[in-house]
Amino acid sequence: MKLAMVDDRFVPIENLDPIYCDRGLYFGDGVYEVLRSYNGRIFALEEHMERFAASMAAIRITSVDIRKVRERVERAFQAACLPNAKIYFHVTRGSAPRNHAWDPNLKPNFLLIVSEVTDHPEEKARGITVCTYPDLRWKRCDIKSLNLLPNVLARQDAVERGCDEAILVNEAGFITEGTSSAFFAILRGALQTAPLSANILPSITRKFVVKAAKNVGMPIEECCLTPRQAAAADELFLAVTTKDIVPVVKFDGTPIGNGAPGRLTKALTAEFLKFTV
Ligand code: PDD
Repeated sequence: MKLAMVDDRFVPIENLDPIYCDRGLYFGDGVYEVLRSYNGRIFALEEHMERFAASMAAIRITSVDIRKVRERVERAFQAACLPNAKIYFHVTRGSAPRNHAWDPNLKPNFLLIVSEVTDHPEEKARGITVCTYPDLRWKRCDIKSLNLLPNVLARQDAVERGCDEAILVNEAGFITEGTSSAFFAILRGALQTAPLSANILPSITRKFVVKAAKNVGMPIEECCLTPRQAAAADELFLAVTTKDIVPVVKFDGTPIGNGAPGRLTKALTAEFLKFTV
């Protein structure tokens, strides 16, 4: 007899809610996006849709029309009536009995959640602290996949050590990115960040930070930094959709600059925010 058990309850297999057989749950077999709006306008919608289409293609989810996803995002955003909204959505390959190989006819599952963005002005004013953690992720970090266990463990470690974000360091000893953020240093007036590769997510915020740097005449050096180099930087910051630019004032216990958000980080933030109006 085939049966299922949900907590203490036996469930005949034919009555089991397909939600329990989502390949996203079994295998992390899906991809996601996070967008935000500023004052009633979704920021960088095209860029997020393009990245999502690329993520789906990379894991061979082929039956989801990106125009339909876009339409759902816009419809949900309008229905929620939140001027400053965070929009999370994911597509998993679908629900089926557990089997590593998939049936190409599976119907993908879609979930979207709109919530209010909680801005943390005190974080920007004070700056945050970060600590390093080994980058234990797979080799396709450019895909925004639901496989986030290494990110989750790294972030939890940071929180338990009293930090706000973990900065991932790969086996070669170089910083890749944060658990859910792009990582930047400013040294002698130049902006430094890891080059785009399979080792990092092509962050949309990163793209606009680079644009902002160009606008203010700041040189950009795409290079891999070691934790030692980062700790010796004049300024550090993180970039992520939900928070745009967040100054980092302590790296593995070492104060950065004079221990307060730096002048150039503030200038970049002001320039970045011009894109959002
Ligand atoms: N995280 N790097 C990683 C590993 C990320 O998960 C994210 C975003 C970023 C920044 O990307 P973007 O600028 O496109 O938001 C970089 C999202 C917000 C999350 O997982 O919640």
